[in-house]
Amino acid sequence: MSTFQAPKGTYDLLPPDSATYLAVREAIAAPLKNSGYGYIETPGFENVELFARGVGESTDIVTKEMYAFETKGGDKLALRPEGTASVLRAALEANLHKAGNLPVKLWYSGSYYRYERPQKGRYRHFSQVGAEAIGAEDPALDAELIILADQAYRSLGLRNFRILLNSLGCRECRPVYRAALQDFLRGLDLDEDTRRRIEINPLRVLDDKRETVQKQLVGAPALSDYLCDACRAYHKEVRELLAAAGVAFEDDVKLVRGLDYYTRTTFEFVHDGLGSQSAVGGGGRYDGLSEMIGGPALPSVGWALGVDRTVLALEAEGIELDIPASTSVYAVPLGEEARRVLFGVVTELRRAGVATDFSYGGKGLKGAMKNANRSGARYALVAGERDLAEGVVQLKDMESGEQEPVVLDAVLETLRAKLG
Ligand code: HAM
Repeated sequence: MSTFQAPKGTYDLLPPDSATYLAVREAIAAPLKNSGYGYIETPGFENVELFARGVGESTDIVTKEMYAFETKGGDKLALRPEGTASVLRAALEANLHKAGNLPVKLWYSGSYYRYERPQKGRYRHFSQVGAEAIGAEDPALDAELIILADQAYRSLGLRNFRILLNSLGCRECRPVYRAALQDFLRGLDLDEDTRRRIEINPLRVLDDKRETVQKQLVGAPALSDYLCDACRAYHKEVRELLAAAGVAFEDDVKLVRGLDYYTRTTFEFVHDGLGSQSAVGGGGRYDGLSEMIGGPALPSVGWALGVDRTVLALEAEGIELDIPASTSVYAVPLGEEARRVLFGVVTELRRAGVATDFSYGGKGLKGAMKNANRSGARYALVAGERDLAEGVVQLKDMESGEQEPVVLDAVLETLRAKLG
């Protein structure tokens, strides 16, 4: 029988690279934890209707990319393609918005699934860390989220990213723009599919990557010219707060995003070293989503950063994170009796919080010391029959190569002093 492989468009995270992924997740989460965001976890699948209504019936995500299935019990579910609809669903279900402290600020970290054409940076299973601030309309909240994402990327050492910023208007001004855009688009020379798109989701036509389409879009009405006074003032305030915080951004009137729930502020973090899959993160305001999924009016804003692409961005900039060796001490027993005694020492060290590993499988000294080296441990504890007879173990400094006997009872204390 042939062996199995990871499904197309997926990959396994293995040591030592997996340590970088963990560090990236932690680096993105750290500024959120430090800014009043509480951790939320929701199921990996939801009622398919939640995404259809939330993300939008006409989006690629819903029409082409969703892993939707029916259970034996007849439930129509889908693996989550994104986190925002689920987080809002959970907050509404638990009445978090009624506890009287809006906005409800939540962060999350997990796996998401989209049936996309796989390529570098685009996978069918990927990982996001995200944040949602639910139930407040305040430009400072939009600015806060963008500033925190910027802070997260900078804490990782990333420099070659840019922030693209736009406003998509609100339910007052966007329909007016939509109609004007449709008028303009209907007069162009476009294929069947794109003509259909004009009627369902005309803003997405602006996002068409084809040269033949882009050429015709010169002179298309711009949403920025149609924003109502309230949206204009809101966007101005967001921009001013970002500028005051020293966070550089670029106005991008063509930034549309691939999900339908956005209103007003939208933004994307793009990295210049990633080729076509350059968006390392994105988000925006979604003032109407709650009502779209059956809740009360709850203006909200959030983002999700892609962990996979952030790791690729680190590689593109040649950044190696400073990840300390996970093992401090490596114990090497020589013989049966030593195995029993040293295993006891290892357990004691671990209980005391010293990161310790052990040489298993009755290896000889040479093989065991090789593993001790590989583990990155600063100290090795070696013991044979003669050491035990004297009541000591040999403590070897793996950096200097120096070795000294330490009385068994004093091992913990000695290592604590040395490791600081
Ligand atoms: P999104 O732009 O669809 O937004 O995804 C956010 C990030 O997830 C992307 O910028 C990218 O880094 C990563 N990502 C998306 N698809 C893939 C893929 N197939 N392979 C690898 N990485 C991928 C959202 O998901 C919204 N829920 C963000 C949001 C939160 N808006 C408001 N709140």
